[in-house]
Amino acid sequence: MPVTIPSLLERKRRGERFAVLTAYDYTTARILAEAEIPVLLVGDSLGMVMLGYRTTLPVTMEEMLHHARAVARGAPDQLLVGDMPFNSYHAADEQAIANAASFLQAGMHAVKLEGGGRVVTLVSRLTERGIPVMGHLGLTPQFVNLFGGYRVQGKEAEAAARIESDARALEAAGAFALVLEGVPRSLAASITRSLTIPTVGIGAGPDCDGQVLVINDMLGLTRDPLAKFVRVFAPLGDQAVAAARAYAEAVAEGTFPDDAHSYG
Ligand code: KIV
Repeated sequence: MPVTIPSLLERKRRGERFAVLTAYDYTTARILAEAEIPVLLVGDSLGMVMLGYRTTLPVTMEEMLHHARAVARGAPDQLLVGDMPFNSYHAADEQAIANAASFLQAGMHAVKLEGGGRVVTLVSRLTERGIPVMGHLGLTPQFVNLFGGYRVQGKEAEAAARIESDARALEAAGAFALVLEGVPRSLAASITRSLTIPTVGIGAGPDCDGQVLVINDMLGLTRDPLAKFVRVFAPLGDQAVAAARAYAEAVAEGTFPDDAHSYG
């Protein structure tokens, strides 16, 4: 059964927590569909984990759409969300709407936008046009230069109140879900209680309706230091290094390929 936005809202009503993972390619999308992960995010984190940029800022629409199409081919029945890259939605204008529409034409079911007040008008314009929007508040990586690094947001009362009011404004504008990244657990819990749309936490504690992680991080593929909130569920990076070494040794020794892997 395809995962839909109404079915996600129903999960919140029933108090059922759900998992979200990022996906950037066809094979991973197929694996995550097999694992029945309901929501896949083609995050602009692909700039860092797939393309090797230092931040998400250089990521282009073209790069995002290339990966979005691959994920859509691999997991057409999951709820697929495409992340709008930096500078692709800075004005709530026709260009931003056209960029969002390109994600749906690439097989995504929704887009994700970072920020509060500034994007609220755009969220309602997109929703009116049938383009569902996931919001994203807190430590929004596209604002890394303003934040002076990847720092937890909403620790002071004033900042927390601003994030809470942005969350309410995004819900009122029609957002169907809200990512809360890098905020104190108590703030995420309070926002989660006050909204009827699901919250999806990352570094926001256990009280959100859903949780999201970057797939490369949770599979142990990321070689850079990991944030405190990441758990590695399988050390695939170390296993890949060992496998590559074993292959190279077998080639050097002449034990691969053997008869079983050769044509008669
Ligand atoms: O780009 C991304 O992967 C994200 C999630 C981690 C929320 O925005």
